[in-house]
Amino acid sequence: MKRRVAILISGRGSNMAALIRAAAAPDFPAEIAVVISNRADAAGLQKAAESGVAVEVIESKPFGKDRAGFEAKLQAALDARGIELICLAGFMRLFTAEFVQRWYGRMLNIHPSLLPSFPGLDPHGQALRAGVKLSGATVHFVIPETDAGPIVMQGAVVVRDDDTPDALSERILGVEHRIYPEALKLLARDQVRLEGDLCRTKAAEQADQVMIWPMVS
Ligand code: GRF
Repeated sequence: MKRRVAILISGRGSNMAALIRAAAAPDFPAEIAVVISNRADAAGLQKAAESGVAVEVIESKPFGKDRAGFEAKLQAALDARGIELICLAGFMRLFTAEFVQRWYGRMLNIHPSLLPSFPGLDPHGQALRAGVKLSGATVHFVIPETDAGPIVMQGAVVVRDDDTPDALSERILGVEHRIYPEALKLLARDQVRLEGDLCRTKAAEQADQVMIWPMVS
């Protein structure tokens, strides 16, 4: 049985589209049962509808600071569709600790940096200002702290001397689109387990790749 997934978005939805694309494969262990946006103007909604995925809008704005009120409505929508796993994909609304606790181990997020470096806003600018030579993207389980939680998967890119936040963001986005479906696959197949603050992957292949940048010949 495929695991039933809800993708939560607020905007463009390119990670959402990557997840929908991957889940279309017959052997993918999860199905995208619904895309929910907290904004009616999220561009991703149309993309989802065009892919034939059910969409729902649950506007968060009318709830103002009443996070629990918004979450009650969201939870009802998730229950109604029998959702087992949540993927946050550019979802720009913070949750209460209660909601996060309820979904602990079943809710993933993606962030465009190698966490725990550069959480929060403008991770690409943060990486450039820090002068790191490698950056990337992280899929992690959601905990109450923003952009933190057991790390499921990471992918790295080199950071060039002439990089701009936009150029770096574009390359990292390519990595995001690869790792998010893979991380969801691991979770849906029960191939990850939580050990305290850490996420371990069952039967992960041993790898000894290294990435060194800059290289000078
Ligand atoms: C992505 O960079 C993701 O890592 C971050 O927000 C952005 C959302 O982009 N959490 P998209 O809506 O998936 O295109």
